[in-house]
Amino acid sequence: MHGGYFMDIWHVHGGSRLEGSCRVQGSKNASLPILAATILTPQRCELLRVPRLTDVDAALRILRRLGCRACRRDGTVAVDSAALSCCAVPHELMAEMRSSVIFMGALLARCGEARLSLPGGCKLGKRPIDLHLAALRKLGAEIEEEGGELHCRAGQLRGAEIELGFPSVGATENAMLAACGAKGETVIRGAAREPEIVALQDFLRAMGAGIEGAGSGVIRIRGFQPRGLVRFRVPADRIAAATFACAAAGCGGDVELLGLEAQEISALLHFLNAAGCDIINDKHALRIRAQGRLLPVGPVVTAPYPGFPTDAQPLLMAAMLRARGRTLIRETIFEQRFRQVPELCRLGAQIRVDGRTAEILGVERLRGAALQATDLRGGAAMILAALAAEGESVVLDEGHVRRGYEELDRSLESLGARIVLEH
Ligand code: UD1
Repeated sequence: MHGGYFMDIWHVHGGSRLEGSCRVQGSKNASLPILAATILTPQRCELLRVPRLTDVDAALRILRRLGCRACRRDGTVAVDSAALSCCAVPHELMAEMRSSVIFMGALLARCGEARLSLPGGCKLGKRPIDLHLAALRKLGAEIEEEGGELHCRAGQLRGAEIELGFPSVGATENAMLAACGAKGETVIRGAAREPEIVALQDFLRAMGAGIEGAGSGVIRIRGFQPRGLVRFRVPADRIAAATFACAAAGCGGDVELLGLEAQEISALLHFLNAAGCDIINDKHALRIRAQGRLLPVGPVVTAPYPGFPTDAQPLLMAAMLRARGRTLIRETIFEQRFRQVPELCRLGAQIRVDGRTAEILGVERLRGAALQATDLRGGAAMILAALAAEGESVVLDEGHVRRGYEELDRSLESLGARIVLEH
């Protein structure tokens, strides 16, 4: 993605039904803020089920650059930040992923200072960080921006009332992290309610933070007293789960997903069910069964949690390409989140985009083609669509998909898909 040093080539031979069971990877979007949070405590942290992703590797490189020890053994990542010696994240590491902005709140809490450049990440349109900065300023940080560089300083952060005008996931996380280093109580109103916020709260509590309310719109943080060794298991990745559910729906099949909290993707399951899939949810697994062409659904409108996740929007779109009618999808979170559309149309899909709305006219068949991944979830959507197409497709990808999926090729292959990743 950055500099075009490498190219992943996904060879997909479509047309197979998907059958079998698949364990869902640990959550990318929970892991990244939790990795940033490890610098709040000088104690050792052991994180279980951290997915092997290039974005996670980037976070580990940032931790090491800050002076922490960070290493992985299988699915467990150990971080020891006792020797943290630096509060600056260099530009080349910031550019690798957008979530590196989360280090701002954590560094402020631990060192009273943070230097970083404006973040990289997926190109989904404007992705401002004004809400992050306003929240940190409320806590007493002084922030200067110059030529894409941010310098944040605080003698002593002070608890404050923070009101977020929009429930931004990243801004909520940054505010939670910084508030852990503040004197006095912080109240975040209008907070994001995503499961990743709850995961971060759980981790902060295990580390010694007094924090409550995550999952609701009001989060209270009453300071932080480091405890001993912290062991924490990262929750399952709801968007990876959504990906396999949409793959089964689009290709037809019978797929069982293990290890996830199915209610975290209930907004998606609602539509898959309306499209004619059987959704069977028991304690151990979530089973998705689909046969033949789906029924059209919608309108599907993306919204903050518990609404329909913007990250699952391209995935559901991929599943609906062969539905028996018209599906409308409205994207309200990011401006440019239909970048997958022209590529999906190469497979013979009929999609019209008008501003923030996409209209998908289901076609009887899709044909294999050569596609180019545009972003992480858009790239995954192309792979799903190629699996539902007749013949061979090639998805060229400058590393987007591996930022968020652990061995996607192998997991799909184990379900009967014909897919080979060349890199
Ligand atoms: C996180 C997720 C991302 C997901 C998104 C929405 C991570 C690493 N990323 O991203 O996968 O798609 O939530 O669920 O967890 N906004 C502002 N000002 C700000 C911050 C955000 O205007 O300071 C706007 C954005 O432009 C966007 C919306 O708020 O329109 C959502 O952004 P936000 O919830 O912050 O998403 P991220 O934290 O970037």
